[in-house]
Amino acid sequence: MKKILLFLILNIFSYSISATNKVFNPPIMGWSSWNTYRVNINEDLIKRQADALVHHGLNKVGYNYINIDDGFFGYRDKKGTMHTHPQRFPNGLKNIAQYIHSLGLKAGIYSDAGSNTCGSLWDNDINGVGSGLYGHEYQDATLYFNDWGFDFIKIDYCGACQELNLEEEKRYTEIRRAIDQVAGRHVSINICRWAFPGTWAKNIGASWRISADIKPNWKSIKYIISKNLYLSAYAGNGHYNDMDMLEINRGLKPEEEEVHFGMWCLMSSPLLIGCDLTSIPDTSLKLLKNQELIALNQDPLGLQAYVVQHENEGYVLVKDIEQERGKMRAVALYNPSDTTCNFNVPLKILEMGGKVKVRDLIKQKDLPTVRGNLQYQLPAHSALILRMEAEERLEPEHYEAEWAYLPLFNDLGKHRNVLYAPQEGASGGMKIGYLGGSAENYAEWNKVYSEKGGIYEMTIQYIPHKDRKLEVIVNRDKSILLKNFNPKKDEKISSITIQIRLQPGNNVIRMGSSYCWAPDIDCFTLEKIESR
Ligand code: GLA
Repeated sequence: MKKILLFLILNIFSYSISATNKVFNPPIMGWSSWNTYRVNINEDLIKRQADALVHHGLNKVGYNYINIDDGFFGYRDKKGTMHTHPQRFPNGLKNIAQYIHSLGLKAGIYSDAGSNTCGSLWDNDINGVGSGLYGHEYQDATLYFNDWGFDFIKIDYCGACQELNLEEEKRYTEIRRAIDQVAGRHVSINICRWAFPGTWAKNIGASWRISADIKPNWKSIKYIISKNLYLSAYAGNGHYNDMDMLEINRGLKPEEEEVHFGMWCLMSSPLLIGCDLTSIPDTSLKLLKNQELIALNQDPLGLQAYVVQHENEGYVLVKDIEQERGKMRAVALYNPSDTTCNFNVPLKILEMGGKVKVRDLIKQKDLPTVRGNLQYQLPAHSALILRMEAEERLEPEHYEAEWAYLPLFNDLGKHRNVLYAPQEGASGGMKIGYLGGSAENYAEWNKVYSEKGGIYEMTIQYIPHKDRKLEVIVNRDKSILLKNFNPKKDEKISSITIQIRLQPGNNVIRMGSSYCWAPDIDCFTLEKIESR
């Protein structure tokens, strides 16, 4: 009874956000079998990894899932009931889940939205044929979550796209429904479709993969970060962009490991360790247990950092931590290039005024205080992950198109969809394209902040096109229709200025065009001309 009470108190303590009383679910943390072992897993191996996780105290800093990936499948019997691999898991998975639970951890399992698993295709694991959830949704959900007691499932898509050509939203919705109907509690789902699947995913999964599988090399780390740079609008409490399992202690150089872990933390990705924990060196452990970095990942605001500057080859990313619009922010200077990169960051673009304290969270040491500008030179393949505390939080004046939430955006590449795309001459080098054409295809900035409210001049930078229209909606009741976006000779980016009224606090601005294409949008700026 005492134990249960303590458990309840701890849970309430760690998960309730006192001001709103809303439950907060951070990105999951733990260990997963795939990166090191692929389908070659077994009962003893999983138990030893769980033991090692506890032995190294990784559970104490938040790593509390042990996830069994592909490779446990045996066969379906005449009734269609799934059995585990007779050699790898002769005693089934129920006892493994129990063992994991007995260590105070949570247990994760794997399946496919279609009939066949990815391991059956890529690792010649013939037991994966017919082992996916397709046609067995209720049966497998009963087995995995009720009989065996798993808490989490990663649902892959090999069998669903290669053989069955299913439709993602419909398929994952069917599976979510089956799991919810069968399991007597909430089961956390990871959607593994290897690309941002669409905004529907947040109603189904706690996270969704945004890229092809991670590999233990720099090219892969850089590629996955690039896939996530403009997806911050889709992450939030309980639903996160999954940058895939960690490749720490798998052959990357030390600075590359720092970029990898630091950016996964700042971008609020799930943190699933992918190496052999029984032989992990102290240096990797130290990085994985860096609580100042982990705090960025598990921060109660649940935000993902977004790009505020892209100059030379470098990127600057920022997000609020601890308190929205507070004086404390997390910042990354990221150099993905193969040469040295100079960063010159006006603190104004970080919305920071006065003297600003700077702490390097990778090295866990304070750096000199700055005012006005932040200047650093970073070597190839490196990042500085900083916590910065300003004297004053400034009102933002600039909003990039690539920060906007696009309800119809996905990265599946099936249709010509609204998207974030590179654009020469655009601020940050990016724009939104294929906006408009229907009332639903809009871009939304839902935190356009005004300290006191008032009349502002809003200057919209766009890419000129013939015969386009743009509707700008400020909060619910303001709608302005702009016309004539025809290009002037040699003009790459044009601008138009309108007056808008902002309320004190956060405002919602939408841009789109209900009946024809809108011009591609680069960014907008705000200048206050009158108080309320
Ligand atoms: C896919 C996934 C991987 C892993 C394998 C298992 O490739 O993206 O993360 O789960 O399948 O076969």
